[in-house]
Amino acid sequence: MTDQAKDRVYIFDTTLRDGEQSPGATMTHDEKLEIAELLDEMGVDIIEAGFPIASEGDFRAVSEIAERAKTSVICGLARAQINDIDRCWEAVKHAARPRIHTFIGTSPLHRAIPNLTMDEMAERIHQTVTHARNLCDNVQWSPMDATRTEHDYLCRVVEIAIKAGATTINIPDTVGYTAPRESADLIKMLLERVPGADDIIFATHCHNDLGMATANSLAAVEAGARQIECTINGLGERAGNTALEEVVMALKVRGDIMPYETKIDTRKIMHISRRVATVSGFPVQFNKAIVGKNAFAHESGIHQDGMLKNKETFEIMRPEDVGLAGTSLPLGKHSGRAALRAKLKDLGVEVGDNQLKDIFVRFKDLADRKKEVFDEDILALVTAAMTDGADHLEIVSLKVVCGTGGPAEATLEMEVGGEEKSCVMEGDGPVDATFKAVRALYPNSARLQLYQVNAVTEGTDAQATVSVRLEEDGKIATGQSADTDTVYASAKAYVNALNRLHVRRSKTGSDQKEISYKDVG
Ligand code: KIV
Ligand code: ZN
Repeated sequence: MTDQAKDRVYIFDTTLRDGEQSPGATMTHDEKLEIAELLDEMGVDIIEAGFPIASEGDFRAVSEIAERAKTSVICGLARAQINDIDRCWEAVKHAARPRIHTFIGTSPLHRAIPNLTMDEMAERIHQTVTHARNLCDNVQWSPMDATRTEHDYLCRVVEIAIKAGATTINIPDTVGYTAPRESADLIKMLLERVPGADDIIFATHCHNDLGMATANSLAAVEAGARQIECTINGLGERAGNTALEEVVMALKVRGDIMPYETKIDTRKIMHISRRVATVSGFPVQFNKAIVGKNAFAHESGIHQDGMLKNKETFEIMRPEDVGLAGTSLPLGKHSGRAALRAKLKDLGVEVGDNQLKDIFVRFKDLADRKKEVFDEDILALVTAAMTDGADHLEIVSLKVVCGTGGPAEATLEMEVGGEEKSCVMEGDGPVDATFKAVRALYPNSARLQLYQVNAVTEGTDAQATVSVRLEEDGKIATGQSADTDTVYASAKAYVNALNRLHVRRSKTGSDQKEISYKDVG
């Protein structure tokens, strides 16, 4: 490793693989392509685009992301099996810079599942990494559950993987069990004990079960790891993974004590965070570091007073560093398209002419209805413009009568598969009446698991962001929408979730092959 490389930390984003494994976070093909493009544009070094053997859909997504990637290395995941690795290579080989990532569980608990002895597993690692390296000169290997693997055995298998040609060794804390000092000690131990360790890159992959994922990743970097695996908004199995925005901003803000660089354009963080929240259906918690709604909000008088005198009193980074100007938008209903484009650029959003036209129409409509248009409103408009499309269900019009003295009544016109239908339904409040009307026009057995409303900004004219999560036969789909009319936003979010279920239903059952990590035999 050169000195220059020593100070550079590679960002490996696994939102589309580990992130997509969160129950209910399934993304459509087009959404995966869009997120991959945003990751590439923001400077992510390696994108783990999926698990090609898991399904035909995963395979297509990884292949197409590989074909389209401009700068990022495109990586696919494969279990320690020859056919998995071949399938992975078939998908990633289209990339200018492909990588195969293969893994096997090495801790006693994980070795017991395929019932392999230590020697048998060591032999499997040698064979599969050698096979991967014969296909691709960029191979990553992971001993799953590394943090609960015996140290001697971990050193032994890491050495085997390096000798077989692995160029990156990832050390996963699969169950979020480690703590910062132990995370650092493990990397240090591997660097000291394993022959050839200086010639490869060590990666850290931390889950957040005890809330220590980001701290554990940074501790590993301080000990010598040079690749951080992470996801946007910390999406991922159970409590999620290290959040990309947290590690990147921690390195940027605390460069004095952690002098490591990434090549991430941090101004694109807020936009990609919003897009991932929308397409995954996992809203960002208000107090989430960096990307939460309150991350740059100052509520108490003392804090507000301090901020007015000197922003640095209570802000360790500027909102604009993460793509949020934080001030109200100096655009009004008389502002032109050029000003809107400039504003979007400030917010880290790049759009084509057609998209700009669409967002501009939405902006004008909002500016007519709302006194002040904030940056958050603009980002919500962008999300809405990207979400609406040629769907199975489209709302044509909605009128709701509600108040005291009787049930609410919703009159809904909706296109169902291109055919316009209408009905009037009563309900216990405007949202209940509206959802009943949707169900009357599009009968379905989906169960409402979550209905959540948040205000995008302050004031009674604020846009409401509504999230709806539905479950049908074990399949989960989420929808989101924003509008100044809360009931209309609710209807759109509900219909959005139904459209996603429709897409999933219409895919052949054989597409979704259940993949099991334990199936390594
Ligand atoms: O958490 C984990 O161990 C993983 C592996 C597949 C790398 O995601
Ligand atoms: Zn993981």
